[in-house]
Amino acid sequence: MEITLTGITTTGTPHLGNYVGAILPAIEASRCRDVQSFYFLADYHALVKCQDPALVHRSRLEVAATWLALGLDVENVIFYAQTDIPEILELTWILTCVTAKGLMNRAHAYKAAVAENLADPDKDPDKGVTMGLFCYPILMAADILMFKANKIPVGKDQVQHLEMARDIAARFNYLYGEHFVLPEAVVDEKAAVLVGLDGRKMSKSYGNTIPLFEPEKVLRKLIMRIKTNSLPPEAPKDPDTCTLFQIYQAFATSEESAAMRARYAQGIGWGEMKQILFEYLNSRLSESRQRYRELLEKPDYVEQVLKQGAARAREYSAPFLQELRRAVGIRPLGG
Ligand code: TRP
Repeated sequence: MEITLTGITTTGTPHLGNYVGAILPAIEASRCRDVQSFYFLADYHALVKCQDPALVHRSRLEVAATWLALGLDVENVIFYAQTDIPEILELTWILTCVTAKGLMNRAHAYKAAVAENLADPDKDPDKGVTMGLFCYPILMAADILMFKANKIPVGKDQVQHLEMARDIAARFNYLYGEHFVLPEAVVDEKAAVLVGLDGRKMSKSYGNTIPLFEPEKVLRKLIMRIKTNSLPPEAPKDPDTCTLFQIYQAFATSEESAAMRARYAQGIGWGEMKQILFEYLNSRLSESRQRYRELLEKPDYVEQVLKQGAARAREYSAPFLQELRRAVGIRPLGG
């Protein structure tokens, strides 16, 4: 049986780029009956990047509400918060004790932090590097190995973390017997990568995002701010280098996109195109935005959905952790 698992780091508010690149494909996959899927809020991972308690708290609610508003099938998928599964942290420690420091030294995110520090005048490689950042891949390995997940849909930036999870699992299996399944990364090459307001990849770290469920007025304002070139309305335009078209295309059917390409060839004014894009997105998002707003008003309900998911997840994690503790020699003294 295929077991898939996806973690969503709860830092910030979900935006259009997250939606087309990750959320939408995952929600579609969540309806598939012959796969067992685990989707979770990676809220312990969030602490590595964000030490503002109010933001962490808010983002957990926003991310959970977003997925529910967009129609995640929580009967089929097991949907929970990582922090509701205490066994994940216990496993993290057990794995930490079989993970070579040298393996963690090679992690891209850690190496990038060190390289940036060395470019600084005071050349302290450790500046701002917490053990959370350094050990991040071990926590991620625990998320995955805990549920014997074999297929992990991730972006390219996470492929190395999956290789590390395999290495760690193999090391444990070598020392203590075959307990873990070796997971595989599944990289969706077709997943759309959206461009942001300034023409770079839409990403929270560039501050160029369009949040998914802003009120209509804000959505309109943000779309009006998208950077375009200075061609006059009647000039033919290239859709493939145009942010407006790229966002439109990520949502539209192929017929709609083809029709829009034809309009670009004839010449379309940027003001008009922005208006069209706004109306199109607004109509696509308004129903789920309404549901999202309602869920934000009912945090106790969202919490309860997560707790139910956690109870289901723990049916797997609690007995498996007992098995693993025994495997390493932690068991009743008389037993
Ligand atoms: N590190 C992932 C990211 O930043 C999030 C994540 C945490 C994750 N645990 C995971 C993804 C387990 C897949 C499986 O996107």
